[in-house]
Amino acid sequence: MSKALDGVRILDFTHVQSGPTCTQLLAWFGADVIKVERAGAGDITREQLRDIPDVDSLYFTMLNHNKRSVTIDTKNPEGKLVLEAMIQKCDVLVENFAPGALDRMGFTWERIQALNPRMIVASVKGFGPGPYEDCKVYENVAQCAGGAASTTGFDDGPPVVSGAQIGDSGTGLHLALGIVTALYQRTQTGRGQKVLAAMQDGVLNLCRVKLRDQQRLERTGTMKEYPQYPNGTFGEAVPRAGNASGGGQPGWILKCKGWETDPNAYIYFITQAPVWAKICNVIGKEEWATDPNYATPAARLPHLKDIFAEIERWTMTKTKFEAMQILNKYDIPCGPILSMKEIAEEPSLRKTGTIVEVDHPTRGKYLTVGNPIKLSDSPTEVKRSPLLGEHTDEVMAELGYSPEQISALRTAGAI
Ligand SMILES: CC(C)(COP(=O)(O)OP(=O)(O)OC[C@H]1O[C@@H](n2cnc3c(N)ncnc32)[C@H](O)[C@@H]1OP(=O)(O)O)[C@@H](O)C(=O)NCCC(=O)NCCS
Repeated sequence: MSKALDGVRILDFTHVQSGPTCTQLLAWFGADVIKVERAGAGDITREQLRDIPDVDSLYFTMLNHNKRSVTIDTKNPEGKLVLEAMIQKCDVLVENFAPGALDRMGFTWERIQALNPRMIVASVKGFGPGPYEDCKVYENVAQCAGGAASTTGFDDGPPVVSGAQIGDSGTGLHLALGIVTALYQRTQTGRGQKVLAAMQDGVLNLCRVKLRDQQRLERTGTMKEYPQYPNGTFGEAVPRAGNASGGGQPGWILKCKGWETDPNAYIYFITQAPVWAKICNVIGKEEWATDPNYATPAARLPHLKDIFAEIERWTMTKTKFEAMQILNKYDIPCGPILSMKEIAEEPSLRKTGTIVEVDHPTRGKYLTVGNPIKLSDSPTEVKRSPLLGEHTDEVMAELGYSPEQISALRTAGAI
């Protein structure tokens, strides 16, 4: 079966996490992704957080599936010529170097345009134009600068960063959308364009509801669905919300049977208004369904802590899976807190290809997260990540270099 991005060639100049997540998605959709790495070293993540000596780390393998790897010294004059040949043959150049690095290599937008006017140049940077545009940025910096950290955690504690890599993988996703959109526009205009996804912008986009809350707070001085209400005082900025829901249906994380020993014996419980009467029945508080102090969402807001304490008395008598089963029967929205161990062992995720076992020549079998986006006409087959420079000769031959030329370039240290 064909793939959605068959025929699209990507010059993948990405490293670490944000860029590689983007190009991995494009590869899963069928693009030919050629990762350009520095000879002898490669993407720094190959050697970071290693669990097996001298073997590509899981950090690297899990972000670089379905790609080919070539090693080119892009600061070597002959290496630059090879890169020029690649630019002429590819549709998209994706990079997430520190600001200015691509220009310093000699590959400015103008130069790339001169080589290939159809080339789309897509970049992840920490910040967009402004006071911080020259800064190097990693995940947690973006979470902090994009508004996520100040609004995450409990109101009596410090800001907290999330385990979800919204700065890196989140921005990679944004960039991937920018790239396919630019490819689509190119079918009309015939021209390439620059695509920029700044990590601060990507995180802020995912924190959109918090900027909503900032304006609500400024207008009303309070946020009734927050756990601080009605006893706490609100400051000038959106506070940390603990486990409160970001929407209009109050929710919280509640203990389940076994919480004393299992750190993940919890369930997220949402007191969705349309099923309030069912919630009251399940937890044995039938009278709350008609009591004017509890019967409407507005009446419940000042009592949320007590309500969740009462629901928790019920959830503590059930495991998170038992609670989930019972609550789902009544359409009460809830979700178990799943550990990574439970997720890794979950058969349904294996069945859909969301968790995949991959074989690797030096590491052996390992688990990875497959393509979370499923296309019915472009199924994803997850293939292992490339070894460093595994495809250098193959790609050089495709670019038209003879075996003798390849050998000379290798001797010159260009590849
Ligand atoms: C992630 C980041 C902080 C890492 O910084 P770093 O390890 O110092 O790496 P840089 O991006 O600065 O690149 C290092 C150098 O390697 C060089 N290089 C990269 N590939 C090369 C190759 N194949 N051959 C020769 N040189 C190469 C670059 O030209 C650059 O050189 P320069 O500084 O002399 O111009 C930085 O790249 C960054 O801020 N990126 C943008 C934001 C981002 O994506 N952050 C999230 C990462 S998950």
